[in-house]
Amino acid sequence: MPDQWGSRLDPWLIDESDFYELEKHADQMAFLIRYAILAPSSHNTQPWSFRVTRDGVEVYPDYSRRCTVADPSDRELLMSIGTSITNFCVAAAHFGFEPTVLYQDRSEQTLPAALIAVRETCAPPAGLRRLFPAIQERHTNRVPFEPREIDSSALTELNEFVGSHSSFVQFVVPGDRDRAADLIARADRVLMASSAFRGELAGWLRSNSSQTGDGMCADGFGIPDPLAPATPWFLRRFDVGALQAKHDRALVEHCAGLIVVTAEDDRVSLIRAGEALEMLLLLLTRLGVQYSFVNSPIEVDTLRSELWSMIRSPHPPQLLLRIGYATTVARPQPRRDAATALVR
Ligand SMILES: Cc1cc2nc3c(=O)[nH]c(=O)nc-3n(C[C@H](O)[C@H](O)[C@H](O)COP(=O)(O)O)c2cc1C
Repeated sequence: MPDQWGSRLDPWLIDESDFYELEKHADQMAFLIRYAILAPSSHNTQPWSFRVTRDGVEVYPDYSRRCTVADPSDRELLMSIGTSITNFCVAAAHFGFEPTVLYQDRSEQTLPAALIAVRETCAPPAGLRRLFPAIQERHTNRVPFEPREIDSSALTELNEFVGSHSSFVQFVVPGDRDRAADLIARADRVLMASSAFRGELAGWLRSNSSQTGDGMCADGFGIPDPLAPATPWFLRRFDVGALQAKHDRALVEHCAGLIVVTAEDDRVSLIRAGEALEMLLLLLTRLGVQYSFVNSPIEVDTLRSELWSMIRSPHPPQLLLRIGYATTVARPQPRRDAATALVR
């Protein structure tokens, strides 16, 4: 890996053996938070902070990192909190703890969204533990996927997962693929026509060597390094909806499958949906299957309703993902240092 990725890679390079040098509970919890912050979040905003308590950790929403245009009701912010909770729980299980998550449904910034209580055990949950190696391997991959189906053994595991998380995760049936691609393309045009939407997105785009520790580096979108500095400027000025729609339609038409995350719109359901999402993403990673998000229809109310009637779920759609295989591996995106997410 070239040196220019050096500091961007640092948060991803955790030596797990360091944990066993730690004797104090607070230091152990701070170590687990290093895994929690590797979770995915919308626009890589990392809208979370953590406080170590006697029982475990409290997870707080960081509303200063809101995306008020793309995510006005904090749906994606809350799901992002959920993904970090899963990473924490998976790491806790790996290091011999049994985690229990308790939720808070009030929205004040000063109140934790959740408390993760941990208790030492000699039989930590195996379903969480087996996902641990995937935490440092998981990356959102936006390249076109190969034109091949999911292997049968991977599909069996995925079907089992979907079956046991059916209120949060379901496949879009192949017969609905074209309709979904249409909805995505239509939504891309609507969203990109908004200069406020483009401006917010541009504000979270970063050069590949950015030191801010957050946001999305240009290479995550296949933008070559020399063009990276001009991309936010271009995006702010030009409606790229037609281009985006064509691009996303092709991505969806050639992927192996689509998965929709569903949940009610209340805070606790959204956090739990985020937890289920990250379990799914870690499982996909363990199975060698790549994914990326094609959420645009969910960010446009009328199209979200169309998608909901298409998937025939009792719960509204919250996220849409495409899955498949890719030969190009995505690079790790930046993370803020775990210490900055720790509230004392
Ligand atoms: C709730 C949520 C919504 C997201 N929505 C999108 C999206 O609409 N489009 C997209 O390209 N990526 C989306 N992402 C992926 C993030 O941009 C990605 O997680 C972040 O940039 C960090 O990169 P990483 O996943 O490779 O660590 C979303 C992630 C989460 C958790």
